[in-house]
Amino acid sequence: MNEMLDLIRSRRSVREYDTRLIEEEKVRAVLEAGLLAPSAHDSRPWHFAVVSTAGGKERLLSGLAAPFRQDMEAAGLPPETVKDRLTRSQRIFRAAPVLILAFAPVRLPANPLDRTGGLEEVLEIQSGALACGQMLLAAHSLGLGMCWFAAPLFCPMEACAACGMDPAQWRPRCLLTLGYPAPGSAPKDKSPVRPEDYLTFL
Ligand SMILES: Cc1cc2nc3c(=O)[nH]c(=O)nc-3n(C[C@H](O)[C@H](O)[C@H](O)COP(=O)(O)O)c2cc1C
Repeated sequence: MNEMLDLIRSRRSVREYDTRLIEEEKVRAVLEAGLLAPSAHDSRPWHFAVVSTAGGKERLLSGLAAPFRQDMEAAGLPPETVKDRLTRSQRIFRAAPVLILAFAPVRLPANPLDRTGGLEEVLEIQSGALACGQMLLAAHSLGLGMCWFAAPLFCPMEACAACGMDPAQWRPRCLLTLGYPAPGSAPKDKSPVRPEDYLTFL
């Protein structure tokens, strides 16, 4: 119907990356697409840490690995198995030339309608997810691949430390990988989206 709708239809999560570096202006364009997302009260409850240097990636990946390693060691797995599983779990993160960590503020706006005290957090999560969603589409429009990972949710302290973010003020929400898709790689088939399963017209 139009180019935008075609892009929405063809976007997929990309988990295999080429080693080719991404042009700086393309990384910026993807980030800007996120920053322009709508947000509750236009509060823009987000901060993104962009990690692309070898040292920065190493710091982040060893932070993300820490809780996983501790669990495996506590379960008494042999060191070789621990190493092997860590390597496999981080393969995608290592291959992606750029990693984007999405953070949300711990302190949220006061809202007199928020009687249960949790609704502002819902609005923050909705706003942040929208920003990330816009990045996913922008990346696709530029021929880049991206995927959303929940990993930093499980190690907030380590994710903050690796990105120089104060954990008293920020909490990580997700990790986005960004890179050119590996040549010849194609995401696994997605089960068909049948509108009638998800829509009700009244
Ligand atoms: C909130 C959220 C969390 C996700 N977490 C992960 C994750 O931890 N690991 C992963 O491989 N993909 C993750 N994904 C990507 C989904 O698996 C993917 O979007 C879904 O399978 C549909 O595939 P598609 O994006 O190619 O349409 C996540 C996506 C969202 C929106």
